[in-house]
Amino acid sequence: MLKIITIFGTRPEAIKMAPVVKELNKLADQIDSKVIVTAQHRQMLDQVLELFSIYPEHDLNIMRQGQNLFDITRRALDGLGKILETEKPDLVLVHGDTTTTFAGALAAYYLQISVGHVEAGLRTGNKYSPFPEEMNRHLTGVLADMHFAPTAASAANLTREGVPEEKIFVTGNTVIDALRATVKDGYVFSQNSILSGIAYEQKRVILVTTHRRENLGEPLREVYRGIRQIAENYPDVEVVFPVHMNPAVRGPVQEELGNNPQIHLIEPLDYEPFVNLMNRCCLVLTDSGGMQEEAPSLGKPVLVLRDTTERPEALDAGTVCLIGCDRGKLVDMTANLLDNQNLYYKMANAVNPYGDGLAAERIVQAIKFKYGLTDKPPKKFIPA
Ligand code: UD1
Ligand code: UDP
Repeated sequence: MLKIITIFGTRPEAIKMAPVVKELNKLADQIDSKVIVTAQHRQMLDQVLELFSIYPEHDLNIMRQGQNLFDITRRALDGLGKILETEKPDLVLVHGDTTTTFAGALAAYYLQISVGHVEAGLRTGNKYSPFPEEMNRHLTGVLADMHFAPTAASAANLTREGVPEEKIFVTGNTVIDALRATVKDGYVFSQNSILSGIAYEQKRVILVTTHRRENLGEPLREVYRGIRQIAENYPDVEVVFPVHMNPAVRGPVQEELGNNPQIHLIEPLDYEPFVNLMNRCCLVLTDSGGMQEEAPSLGKPVLVLRDTTERPEALDAGTVCLIGCDRGKLVDMTANLLDNQNLYYKMANAVNPYGDGLAAERIVQAIKFKYGLTDKPPKKFIPA
């Protein structure tokens, strides 16, 4: 039996690894698949574990309120090292660019266990943006033995850095696998009275999320002031803002945006209502990585509250626009999209540069191929 341990710790990693775990579990006669969660996130991780029925064999439960990068790295590395030493898997899978990702790859490397990196090769080229994610992803790539690059552009970044071709697999992004399995036409928001109470036919819903470390403080306050201004200028706009649980996000959000009947500050939503709300909204304002992949696939324009992106594909396709945290730019660009139908429809084109729903299948096929469980290599993901 091939023994594989999948490691993750935060909400987006869980969403994007769930399709891989599901695919591995289908091969119980060939692959012994286990999951370790660091629980760098607690509630926001548990929401996803429950939805996708993932029952981790090990849970490090490391999250602390207001944790810093040293805390997460130390606790994750220590806990993961102990478990991997006992479990001795053939391969460890990590995802993306969080501190759990890097600590997982490093722990495996110290024990000379092979590392597979899912969502490999995305780069901004700026080591402080996103911070610390750019370096987490890069360092994980240096340690990895198999690189599952979602797109040709991310594969090309790895090639440029000297990664041998035979270690790179262009798979598409598993976020699209999860999205396709979850978004449903005519979805009813039965569990949430705010979402079920919105008159979607008459109102224009703007979906907002923020959490990036490099944006905390004044930059995000400026964003929030801009959002307040938009709500004041457009009475038919309803802002839905599921607020990240980071206290450094929550405090300023409440102070700048509280007590406005058009602005709904709500708890982080479960993934299912969240992506179905994205499917119903008119516009997304976010500094999230994953939402830059999901929204274009649903044909929703995204104004990205960042100066850089490691996801240039949707930028090239014209469905996302980088606006940073400048209040004036935010208000102007949003107004342009709300006022100018031509511009809106030009941006609201549904494009799928990130995946076709088969990424997890390709990843598992690549693993089977590498470990001699099949003689068929996976086919490359090519966007339609
Ligand atoms: C982390 C990742 C980031 C990813 C983001 C997804 C790092 C360094 N950052 O950032 O790459 O984009 O997750 O959301 O790995 N909290 C809770 N409950 C939760 C989750 C968070 O209370 O379920 C609070 C805690 O006070 C915690 C704080 O949020 O200390 C920050 O969490 P942390 O994982 O350190 O950083 P994120 O900004 O969430
Ligand atoms: N998401 C969610 N509920 C929310 C907000 C986001 O399920 O209230 C999902 C979203 O669909 C996406 C992922 O969480 O798949 C993005 O997470 P986040 O923005 O926290 O992290 P990033 O993608 O920036 O690393």
